[in-house]
Amino acid sequence: MSQNTVILITGANRGIGLELVKLYASEPQYTVIAGVRDVTKARELEEWNEQAGKESGRGGKIHLVKIDAGDLEGNKKAAAEIEQLYGKVDVLWANAGAACGSIPVLSATNADYENLFRTNTLGPIVLFQAFYALLQKSDNPVKKFLITSSIVGSTGSQHMVPFALSPYGASKAAVNHVAVKLAQEHGEKDGIAVVCLHPGSVMSDLGRQGWVDMGLDPDGPLPMPVATPEECANSLKGVVDGVTVEKDGGKFIAYDRSVVPW
Ligand SMILES: NC(=O)c1ccc[n+]([C@@H]2O[C@H](COP(=O)([O-])OP(=O)(O)OC[C@H]3O[C@@H](n4cnc5c(N)ncnc54)[C@H](OP(=O)(O)O)[C@@H]3O)[C@@H](O)[C@H]2O)c1
Repeated sequence: MSQNTVILITGANRGIGLELVKLYASEPQYTVIAGVRDVTKARELEEWNEQAGKESGRGGKIHLVKIDAGDLEGNKKAAAEIEQLYGKVDVLWANAGAACGSIPVLSATNADYENLFRTNTLGPIVLFQAFYALLQKSDNPVKKFLITSSIVGSTGSQHMVPFALSPYGASKAAVNHVAVKLAQEHGEKDGIAVVCLHPGSVMSDLGRQGWVDMGLDPDGPLPMPVATPEECANSLKGVVDGVTVEKDGGKFIAYDRSVVPW
């Protein structure tokens, strides 16, 4: 990556996104753009930025931008703002995501599916559409489009996911498909490494609510290891920093570097 790498991460005000933003902002070569859907809900991020800025003596280096998943006009406005300020994006990370609890297909409503498809599927699609021109302006040999997906959207792993999570899983499976198409359409042609990521089980608000919805106490014994958002961000950063188009483009990679089946 070049001396000045511009990285944009969505869903940056809490959970895994917040920890990713902090990690990248701690490294001098990165300019970090934090995509949040409601800037008034980014207090923790702003405080961290202010504090880090004081400690470095150079001021906060995180730029907040409003990005609502699936809103094409809003995403284009955000891209225009970033173009004015930085002229390019090197790494675009669609991390924002939502879940809706444990609902069997038989009782799931259209709204359950539609809401999650808008955030988890259209969110990354629209983000790519709005920022494609800025990724093309990157002078980095490897440009990256990363999507925080989930093993719940891995059709080939459903034997390991015996939970009623179809609206969430379907929305992530759909975005996985789109990632494969984007890798075909923009991997070799534009040098963009398109990669889906499985962060593992993480005790964010979303992860915590997931255990509650399944009738388990998130603070009690759980059937699998659960990472903190900070641990997860560290693992994911380790994975994505070494990503290349040839080696990883069009793949679904887990926090522990294993390849997840589609
Ligand atoms: N936690 C896990 O165990 C786990 C496992 C597999 C995959 N994931 C995936 O990891 C990603 C990050 O989730 P997390 O665990 O860090 O959850 P989280 O702490 O609940 O954070 C979710 C983030 O997504 C944002 N978001 C939700 N809906 C949005 C929308 N319509 N437009 C824009 N932003 C929106 C939230 O913003 P607001 O604060 O404004 O709501 C928040 O910043 C998600 O894609 C999730 O599906 C998580």
